[in-house]
Amino acid sequence: MKLGRLNHIGVATPSIADSIVHWRDTMGAVSISEPFAMPEQGVKVCFVDTPNDGAMNGTQIELIEPINADSPIHGFLAKNPLGGQHHICFEVPDIMAAKAEFETLGKRILGDPRVGAHGTMIFFVHPKDMGGMLTEIMETPKEDAHS
Ligand code: CO
Repeated sequence: MKLGRLNHIGVATPSIADSIVHWRDTMGAVSISEPFAMPEQGVKVCFVDTPNDGAMNGTQIELIEPINADSPIHGFLAKNPLGGQHHICFEVPDIMAAKAEFETLGKRILGDPRVGAHGTMIFFVHPKDMGGMLTEIMETPKEDAHS
């Protein structure tokens, strides 16, 4: 496993609109994307940028709101009504190589690799195999991560 950049922290929220106000007015975020739906995942997402570090893009906060009854986020919000940290996402140079390495180590991959919110391939690793953290692995975007 070649550990890459911490791309984003996924934060579940009952209301992206309310969370945007928090990140803008309390936390001072100045770059926040337009929310967009990912119907096949049952969620709406929005990215809050943290400042860039030189040539690198800053780590983002990924706000996630359920948009239908099937969304896996509902269970999380039932236990955490205010929302909160849901997953962490690290970049890797080669998504299929990373998948094979996790599987060799006996880590459970949740579903098949699929296109994530940044348009590159992602997969999730079971939190019980990852020290309690739902972990998203994402192939590093070839160009700007924050298009
Ligand atoms: Co994510």
